[in-house]
Amino acid sequence: MSENTAAERKTALSGIQPSGNLTLGNYLGALSNFSDFTNEYNCFYCVVDLHSITVRQVPAELRRRTYEVLALYIACGLDPEKCTLFVQSHVHEHAELSWMLSCFTMFGELSRMTQFKDKSAKHADNINAGLFTYPVLMAADILLYQADVIPIGQDQKQHLELARDIAERFNGVFSPTFTVPEPYIPKVGANIMSLAEPTKKMSKSDTNENAVIRILDDRDTVIRKFRRAVTDSDTSVRYADGKDGIKNLMTIYSCFTGKDYAEIEREFEGKGYGDFKTAVGEVTADGLAPVQKRFSEFMADKAYLETVMRDGAEKASRTARKTVSKVKRKLGFVTL
Ligand code: TRP
Repeated sequence: MSENTAAERKTALSGIQPSGNLTLGNYLGALSNFSDFTNEYNCFYCVVDLHSITVRQVPAELRRRTYEVLALYIACGLDPEKCTLFVQSHVHEHAELSWMLSCFTMFGELSRMTQFKDKSAKHADNINAGLFTYPVLMAADILLYQADVIPIGQDQKQHLELARDIAERFNGVFSPTFTVPEPYIPKVGANIMSLAEPTKKMSKSDTNENAVIRILDDRDTVIRKFRRAVTDSDTSVRYADGKDGIKNLMTIYSCFTGKDYAEIEREFEGKGYGDFKTAVGEVTADGLAPVQKRFSEFMADKAYLETVMRDGAEKASRTARKTVSKVKRKLGFVTL
């Protein structure tokens, strides 16, 4: 990607929940491309803690993970000097705009959200209103910053479409107020599959730890998990139909080495799956090592992380405040 001058830059915004440990899919699909993004866009990256409480959290863990996600963002190349890194609950306009937008969102629309249906099936004892209105809060995150481009996983596409519908609806009633955002769905991240069931996406909430590589897994764990990866009864490393497990490992190997599938097939010709799996484990561990090292350094410096949070919240508030004032004026609220 080329570097754009500040004036012609579009705004990109994304958020990660501080619940669950991030996976190799998150890394290859999103976090590893972060530095390219900050050159091309005016970036806002948010730790969406308000979203996390739609399912029950252990408070001390939520707090720790909020620091962790921020540290990971920076470790993956998001430079706090070049973009806005912040925690959602530090900018109260998110909750405020969310309420106003909820009055422009239909019950029927929210009922059709597949994530709501999945999560309410999974947490049948806690189908709270926040779980239902979750996509409205996400729309507020996006529309507050007039974001043009939203890097997300395939699973968030329906939520983004709803954000677009809400923006268009509001704009239609009150004249243009919000930028209508476009999704940006990276091809790679969407294709990182579970190591245990390679037809399923690698998910950070998978209950089988062996199915998931975590960004923070140590070298031995990474190699052990790859060695256990489910493949097929064939023996040759080929990118072919019916070989979902091998295809997934080839995708990962390709991401870390830059080699294409033909090169990988040649490299492992005559070698067994065992050698290939070990090699995938090694390049992955090597690729994650520098991120893990930076992550530990930032985690050891809470004061630094808090400075980043504070500066980020201040920068984010400036934009968020403008949008909320505009919305309140259009709605007819009295301004003093
Ligand atoms: N719902 C997103 C997820 O679970 C996280 C998120 C919240 C988000 N707000 C956002 C992503 C705004 C992009 C933009 O993955």
